[in-house]
Amino acid sequence: MAPKLSLLLLLTMLLCSHSHGVHLKETTMTLYFQDYSAGANATVLPVTGIPGRVWSFFGFGTIFCTDDPITEGLDKNSAQIGRAQGIYVTSALDGSNTHVLISIVFTNEEFSGSTLEIQGTSRQHDAVREVAVVAGTGKFRYARGYATFETVYFDMEISYAIIRCNVTVMHY
Ligand SMILES: *[C@@H]1O[C@H](CO)[C@@H](O)[C@H](O)[C@H]1NC(C)=O
Ligand SMILES: *[C@@H]1O[C@H](CO)[C@@H](O)[C@H](O)[C@H]1NC(C)=O
Repeated sequence: MAPKLSLLLLLTMLLCSHSHGVHLKETTMTLYFQDYSAGANATVLPVTGIPGRVWSFFGFGTIFCTDDPITEGLDKNSAQIGRAQGIYVTSALDGSNTHVLISIVFTNEEFSGSTLEIQGTSRQHDAVREVAVVAGTGKFRYARGYATFETVYFDMEISYAIIRCNVTVMHY
């Protein structure tokens, strides 16, 4: 009896998923975050931290607010396709991980009005940091996937970094 029941259950599940007419699309893209962590035009800044401690990327409890321009190419003067807006919280006691909560807010012609929501732990010392894409809006409704982050350029003098972000999402 039991095997028959589970077969029935499996069939029902298959029929249900079929009746929704689910056709997921996969979209991949490469984006470049133009990131300034100091100066008059900083795009990422600490907003608060643990009193009496140094507020920094590697200081537990430090919360950063960010609004990085996102460009199509490595060059900061290449076409802007959106902004990366949100917060980072240094979430590991030893400062090694940061918790990322950012929206990719598209402004380009193709995806304007749509967003992707990125959330998860980023291992700050790793050359490639992978964070989950948990949701989206507009053209990315029900999006799920992952994003990798790599710092491909860093100018310590002016605290300027270019971060390459490769996104892979499944969505309707
Ligand atoms: C900040 O941006 C303004 C306007 O684009 C520019 O004139 C100024 O030189 C920039 N300042 C720094 C420190 O980059
Ligand atoms: C991100 O994509 C670029 C190509 O657009 C590729 O060269 C690079 O290796 C990718 N990075 C990762 C971590 O997959």
